[in-house]
Amino acid sequence: MKLTLQQQQRVDALLQQMTLEEKIGQMNQLSPSLVGGFDMSFEEMIEMAMDGRITQEELSEMFSKAERDYREDDIRKGLIGSVMLQDPDKYNELQRIAVEESRMGIPLIIGLDVIHGFRSVYPIALAEAGAFDPDLFQRTARMAAKESRTQGISWHFAPMIDVGRDSRWGRVSEGPGEDPYLASRFAEAKIHGLQDGAYEDAADGTERRENYVAACMKHYVAYGAAESGRDYNTTSMSISQLHNVYLPPFKAATEAGAATAMASFNDLNGVPCTVNTYTLRRTLKERYGLQGFVVSDANAIRECIDHGIAADRYDAARQAANAGMDMDMGTSIYVEELKNAVERGDVSMEVIDEAARRILSVKMWLDLFDHPYITDEAKHRYDKLPKGHVDLTLEAAQKSIVLLKNDDHVLPLKKEQKISLVGSLAANPTEIIGAWAMSWKSEDCVSILDGLKNTGAAVEYFPCGGPAEEINEEEIAQAAAYGDVIVAVVGEYSAMSGEASSRADTTLPGKQRELLAKLLATGKPVVTLLMNGRALALGWEAEHLPTIVEGWQLGIQMGNAVASVLFGDYNPTGKLAASFPYVTGQLPLYYNHPSTGRPGGKFKFTSKYIDAPFEPVFPFGYGLSYTTFAYCDLTVKETEDALVACVKVKNTGEVCGTETVQLYMQDVTASLVRPVKELKGFAKVTLAAGEEKEVVIELKKADMGFYNNDGVYVREDGKFRIFVGGSSADTLMQELDLAF
Ligand code: BGC
Repeated sequence: MKLTLQQQQRVDALLQQMTLEEKIGQMNQLSPSLVGGFDMSFEEMIEMAMDGRITQEELSEMFSKAERDYREDDIRKGLIGSVMLQDPDKYNELQRIAVEESRMGIPLIIGLDVIHGFRSVYPIALAEAGAFDPDLFQRTARMAAKESRTQGISWHFAPMIDVGRDSRWGRVSEGPGEDPYLASRFAEAKIHGLQDGAYEDAADGTERRENYVAACMKHYVAYGAAESGRDYNTTSMSISQLHNVYLPPFKAATEAGAATAMASFNDLNGVPCTVNTYTLRRTLKERYGLQGFVVSDANAIRECIDHGIAADRYDAARQAANAGMDMDMGTSIYVEELKNAVERGDVSMEVIDEAARRILSVKMWLDLFDHPYITDEAKHRYDKLPKGHVDLTLEAAQKSIVLLKNDDHVLPLKKEQKISLVGSLAANPTEIIGAWAMSWKSEDCVSILDGLKNTGAAVEYFPCGGPAEEINEEEIAQAAAYGDVIVAVVGEYSAMSGEASSRADTTLPGKQRELLAKLLATGKPVVTLLMNGRALALGWEAEHLPTIVEGWQLGIQMGNAVASVLFGDYNPTGKLAASFPYVTGQLPLYYNHPSTGRPGGKFKFTSKYIDAPFEPVFPFGYGLSYTTFAYCDLTVKETEDALVACVKVKNTGEVCGTETVQLYMQDVTASLVRPVKELKGFAKVTLAAGEEKEVVIELKKADMGFYNNDGVYVREDGKFRIFVGGSSADTLMQELDLAF
């Protein structure tokens, strides 16, 4: 986010004229409270969505019908700086009050959770990250920015860039997986996609301001380390782990220009991230140089009382403001308490000025002062989804699919084969969406059933069971009688991942394993398509099922994307951004774990379990293709400031394919225990059948260090290993000694 000199001067001029109350008003975000219109409690509604009695769409509709209190009078008085809203008419109405009826005429900034697409919903982040494709990450973000901006939403509570290594935590679905390097590339690409339209003219003739939004990287920080994978839970870790694992995506996003950040709910080493001076002020603002502002998570400032860290609302407001929390989401605590705190000398005027300046700067950068309203044309611009948006959601979905097993080469299917499609998720047009999407329309959604039918294939649907349904033996018999092949869609409902959706058992929910066993017993070939929002525990499935496709929740084009992969019109390229365990008890599980003194092995007294494997069933970076790739001749050359790894990759199969070549390193001896392997680069290569190419990946020496427990980045001379391969568990290796 870069402001022109003139924009900065306008912010300065405004600040000089504002009263203390008006400045604090800017620091207040309204989440319009629901004031009626429901015939059941919030908890009941969520419960119904969780167990599949109502669909996600029905849940969203219930919410949209509710009456809300928009506190128009407070907007008029300049006591609200931001509103969470998704209603273009209401937007113009509230904006008019702020701009034309408040004393300073400062526009509102409207924020919303646009995590993986607005109307054109694309794959959940955990799936999209597996495309290993920064250009794709940018393009999908730009599409979401353009769509939401037409509705007045100029601030996305995204990207969600929490490194997640424990898939019990439901929010792993929202983020880019277990690896800090991949998460960092994902983070910076998303920032560029959301924000860089500010500096480019759009090819489609739309105004510049309609092509970008302010990003809000979240949840800052270490939320993914929530103990036991239980949402909102405590986190505790060394400074070195914080800087090496959880902070890198936030550093990368800030360096890419991220306008804002949202602090996380968790406490970190005993200090809630909402009031954490070390993470907010010292690190994010002073060290990384965040230009815009920090917002709390919903109600999180008030929750500092429940954490037992603040005595009352006054104390919570005081601590948060002083730690560098610029905006309060949803509690009014700042407008109620901060004026008093300034007058009593508990919060300085500089703290308030800084927060107000940061918030006004983002609004200025978004061009809200000069163009606060949305036009009718904009409002209806995407009433019909442009083909380009549909195509991009399809491309993203295809690139996110991961082929996990194809032992009997049942895939790709042949067009003349009759397909029995099984599993209630297969025909459900909305469960393809995944958690945290609120602006999609069911008319855009292509279910798996629709996608297969669109190919003209002979396909019949037999529900047979699902995440919450009983098994129907009769339908199983019908499925076996009809199809040459059974495609079984199993997995999780959208509501089983995302916020407040941690699971203590990460196997396929309900009776789906049993269903799969019964389908196998029919003797017909079974293709298992997974639809889920986390790395599931797949020990049994990997052992018994010959053909498994990880389909995640891929957004509106999921059905077409899956069909193109099943029929071989698209040769899968996706890789896993998270390691899959055999059993839940292995969690947290991640490939880049620190070296132990007794690495797991054959002998008893090594780091392992007596009742389960210690390694993943499907590791990070893994994913098959309809062809095969062979790697050879790895060489690593040292230049002045980099290592250059060259490897030959050959397509040893019969069809063209694209491989993601991954480079990992290990710092073999260091002053702190280092990971057994860390991803440091990747490259894509497309090879015709039989073709071989040399792939070159460069690793800058500057990136070969690590943070110590003082939070200082160090590089230490000595032995390093460089690994290159098609997954974290299957690599060639070169060793070398380095002196930096
Ligand atoms: C979530 C955030 C989200 C916010 C606003 C919170 O409950 O943790 O991720 O951005 O709500 O919807």
